[in-house]
Amino acid sequence: MFEPVKIAPSILSADFMNLGRDIALIEEAGAGYVHVDVMDGHFVPNLTMGVPIVKQLKKATSLPLDVHLMIDNPLEQLPWFLDAGADLVTVHAEVLDADGLARAVASIHAAGAKAAVSLKPRTAPGVLAPVISDVDMVLVMSVEPGFSGQSYIEGSEDKVARVAALARSVGASPLVQVDGGIGEATAPLVAGAGADVLVCGNAVFAAEDPARALAEVAAAAEEARLAALAARKEA
Ligand code: DX5
Ligand code: ZN
Repeated sequence: MFEPVKIAPSILSADFMNLGRDIALIEEAGAGYVHVDVMDGHFVPNLTMGVPIVKQLKKATSLPLDVHLMIDNPLEQLPWFLDAGADLVTVHAEVLDADGLARAVASIHAAGAKAAVSLKPRTAPGVLAPVISDVDMVLVMSVEPGFSGQSYIEGSEDKVARVAALARSVGASPLVQVDGGIGEATAPLVAGAGADVLVCGNAVFAAEDPARALAEVAAAAEEARLAALAARKEA
């Protein structure tokens, strides 16, 4: 919670013909994770990548693989992604009931990986209640999942603050990750509200100088996080 804000570049916006080069670039630029957007064409309209890519990524980087499962049947597919080397796996709260969420988190932990639960923009944080003390991270979506390059949904930072408050109220301290439309302008909003990990697709990979863009987003976020912490201490 008190670590510097980390950036998790989403390789959905990378150049797939030069994926190795792009991974090396973000590694050198100080990324905290490699964010892998898995979409199944059902839970979201888009279809992206799956287990074989995760397996190859594992060989190509020492950064933790942050696998965001936007799929209808995570309980069936989880073992494959865990075997493939996912270090952190995020499942969506919309496709699992409380029992399913608990089973997903338990099976991720049994494989030695970190577990996260994600909320779409219109999903209320209350669904996290049964697992909030067990998860390592909560992912707050700040766009409707499905595509990179969308605009940040205004007010998403309020949801970040609510999730952080919910966690604090039960003495839990999961990381809070935000995903969708995060760049230099929006990073300070979510970091000031308590986000620890920021996913960036287009803000990094569509930039002329991706390494510089990553560093600028990280710096803007960290400045806002420190300012918010200082303001909280004064209050
Ligand atoms: C959206 C994905 C995001 C997305 C981020 O469904 O989960 O990770 O690729 O891309 P940007 O940062 O461009 O919104
Ligand atoms: Zn994502």
